[in-house]
Amino acid sequence: MNSFLNHLESAKSLFDPFFIPTIQNILNSFSPSRVSDAAIYSLQAGGKRIRPIILINSYYANQDFPEPNADDINLKNLLLLASAIESIHTYSLIHDDLPAMDNDDMRRGMPTCHKKFDVPTAILAGDALNSLGFYLIRLINSDEADLFKDCLEYLHEGAGIPGMITGQMEDLEEEGKSEISDYRKNLSQKERLLSIHGKKTGALIIASFLLGNRLRSDFKERETTIRKYAEEIGILFQITDDILDVEGSKESLGKTPGKDASSGKLTYPSLFGMETAKKMRDDSKNKAYSFAMDLESETNQFFKGLPNYIAERKN
Ligand code: IPE
Ligand code: IPE
Ligand code: MG
Ligand code: MG
Ligand code: MG
Repeated sequence: MNSFLNHLESAKSLFDPFFIPTIQNILNSFSPSRVSDAAIYSLQAGGKRIRPIILINSYYANQDFPEPNADDINLKNLLLLASAIESIHTYSLIHDDLPAMDNDDMRRGMPTCHKKFDVPTAILAGDALNSLGFYLIRLINSDEADLFKDCLEYLHEGAGIPGMITGQMEDLEEEGKSEISDYRKNLSQKERLLSIHGKKTGALIIASFLLGNRLRSDFKERETTIRKYAEEIGILFQITDDILDVEGSKESLGKTPGKDASSGKLTYPSLFGMETAKKMRDDSKNKAYSFAMDLESETNQFFKGLPNYIAERKN
């Protein structure tokens, strides 16, 4: 079990049978509602599940994957964390697509949540998936109080004001949808772009690595190195997303291309031009690869293969 794709598939085959049924069970314990249907609709639409895959591999970095076993408490805890991150990520997409934000009609190859349902339902479905992400932490089985504290800290750092929310705000300020905040007025465009990408996308990716790592007994020794690697992966992920918005097709992306340019977003291609943006993507890929060396055994290939997978992806 050592190729990158093996690691990816193994994590996905642990996650997929757990994720939707677990969330459906939780939501079905309350009265059926349109907002629950909308939340499930967006989760089921698919997506790469790259954050859960990262989280699971961050835990198994130097070890073999287990056989799926419903009685394995550690595995269940890991899958709850992975579900929390995917639930929060999916909420961020539902809100990102709303008319007041990026105003997109298509997501994961399907009509966006507000198109399929309506805007108020989509807002509340997003809110529901955000709360659910934090609720899933409560279902973890552990008598280690610090584990709960740390997981909540990582999730908030990734999804809240320290991370994604501020990144999304800065992204919309740059587009002219809101006033530029005072603290950003003296920054260069390049500094502003790096801040947007690091926060709107990087922060939740960093949280994915840290949450998986937190379940390991040696988590403390690994945290600094993981953070350094994860920060680079986050930036690489969004540079690639910006490039795909220009060069990708609707069919492979499952979302409408060309939106960044038409809405005047600050992106790598818009600021530096496509050729330089691609060079910066490749530099970032190589940097991430070099950081990966310290994170897994020679035979394991997830951390080392991930930069190339992200840079070369088509969706
Ligand atoms: C899209 O994320 C939003 C960004 C942060 C760029 P993904 O590209 O991971 O979307 P899905 O989950 O595969 O649909
Ligand atoms: C996404 O950035 C960031 C979040 C959803 C938090 P984009 O707006 O570029 O993502 P896409 O291109 O719509 O997936
Ligand atoms: Mg956006
Ligand atoms: Mg968008
Ligand atoms: Mg984009």
